[in-house]
Amino acid sequence: MEERLQKVLAAAGVASRRKSEELITAGRVTVNGKIVNTLGARVDPDSDEIKVEGRLVVIPHRKYYILLNKPAGYTSTRFDRFAKKTVMELVADMSASLHTVGRLDVDTEGLIILTNDGDLTYKLTHPSHEVGKTYVATVRGVVTDEDLKRLREGVDLEDGVTAPAEAKLLETSADGRRSVVELTIHEGRKRQVRRMLAAVGHKVERLVRTKIDGIEAGDLPVGAWRHLTAEEIKRLKEAAGQN
Ligand code: URA
Repeated sequence: MEERLQKVLAAAGVASRRKSEELITAGRVTVNGKIVNTLGARVDPDSDEIKVEGRLVVIPHRKYYILLNKPAGYTSTRFDRFAKKTVMELVADMSASLHTVGRLDVDTEGLIILTNDGDLTYKLTHPSHEVGKTYVATVRGVVTDEDLKRLREGVDLEDGVTAPAEAKLLETSADGRRSVVELTIHEGRKRQVRRMLAAVGHKVERLVRTKIDGIEAGDLPVGAWRHLTAEEIKRLKEAAGQN
């Protein structure tokens, strides 16, 4: 529902209504990237992106769904005393209210969702609803058809046999030292992809999550984030059995 911009700013705790009006008329407020300096403007706090002096205004009670392209070297837990860098630093303006949906290892790159929708997180990470997640792994050695078959059918890890997965060889280097494999799994066990590939004899050298339930990075640079589209959110909710 649309509301007056100054009211939205005041409700978000940016400043008093009066001071918010001053910020607007001074041209210090943008809505979806454009300066709005007239007081009559109305915005939709649930979908418009409002910034004051370049800082995102976090709207209380609004649900945020963010797709981050995580670089290697960032920890995906919120609080970790030992972490040098956490993904929260990459979504700085938003970080107060968000948590990650599942985790990526510190050395894994690629897509991770952050949200303040606890219900969706719970459902998406519940074993009965785990959505497909696709990884591209650069591994040592030549991945054979037999290795792919084992990955697809399930490999025996110390915490049990893995569920059926999709596995595809993307390339093998001419000298046979490396292969690149694409793997889609529907589980979320700790270091699962690394352990699956190790179990069939291939140490992972680089791991990138490229898709979450069909959601892709597109042209999102490494280290950057974007809001999920309404369509993507709808799909995820359906996948999680939430409507
Ligand atoms: N599997 C892994 O081994 N690591 C990740 O970060 C994600 C899946």
